Amino acid sequence: MWESIDHIFKSSSEDTETMKQLFGYFLIAGGFVFAIVLGVTFYILRKFKVSDHSKQHFDTHESHKVEYLTIGFASVLVVSFLVLAIGAINKIQTPIPEGKEPDIIITGHQWWWEINYPSEGVVAANELHIPIEKRLLVRLESKDVIHDWYVPALGRKMDMIPGQSNYVWMQALEPGHYDGACNEYCGAQHAWMRILVVAHEQNEYEKWLADQKKKASIPQTALQKKGAKIFQDKVCSNCHAIQGTGAVAGIGPDLTHLGSRETLLGGKLRNGPGSLKDWLRDPQKVKPGAHMPDFLFTEEELNALTAYLYNLK
Ligand code: CUA
Repeated sequence: MWESIDHIFKSSSEDTETMKQLFGYFLIAGGFVFAIVLGVTFYILRKFKVSDHSKQHFDTHESHKVEYLTIGFASVLVVSFLVLAIGAINKIQTPIPEGKEPDIIITGHQWWWEINYPSEGVVAANELHIPIEKRLLVRLESKDVIHDWYVPALGRKMDMIPGQSNYVWMQALEPGHYDGACNEYCGAQHAWMRILVVAHEQNEYEKWLADQKKKASIPQTALQKKGAKIFQDKVCSNCHAIQGTGAVAGIGPDLTHLGSRETLLGGKLRNGPGSLKDWLRDPQKVKPGAHMPDFLFTEEELNALTAYLYNLK
């Protein structure tokens, strides 16, 4: 049982450890108060049990002792919670050192995440790759409505508000995959605004970063070349960017390394030629409400586009 509880509150950062500890204190204190209230209730029920109302009579009187005890106990409890909570907040939301630029900028869109590594010139979407151990400063923004960043294992949650920059610290102590999701209702596909965070050992992270810095893969086969042409000639390049090609628009996700991602559409689909093709064939069927129109591609065009896009590793 304890392992499964531990899984729910899995933490991989010093900050979540602090929050977990605070939650533990609150739970213990809450349980203690609950036990006292329950105990007193049963005590009173037993002591003043009346079987025949006409025969029994109890004298009631005011008790200052009980009043002071209750007020005193409640005050001590509330004040200690306040002190503990302020201590935890100070530990988690440490001030940003002067002149410190964010390591990562994450922008919420309906319904996907844009991920920027400003000092590296890398843009990605829907999957966040980070190095372990380092405490990263993340700037959160929104392009449309209010979203909310939350990856429970890696730190606190924070609203993403249009026209305002919010900051959080993020840290993963262990390498691995961490799930998160948008935590503010933001429209039809709010439920499919998931985020996958992949934490790497430093050298693996650098390798990933080096791959992301490369320009888009050049189409090799005739089918891929045809797909590239459709991408440029049809409307795809009006919304999406592919580094190293003429496509530079920033309305939809950057697709430069689309084929290297594990998931598509904010976690809705596992990445693969089949799911990519399904999406291109009928976006509104796969993710209703998404801002990707149906372009009525022919089967041949679908095959070519899928081959081109999936090759972008
Ligand atoms: Cu974005 Cu809910």
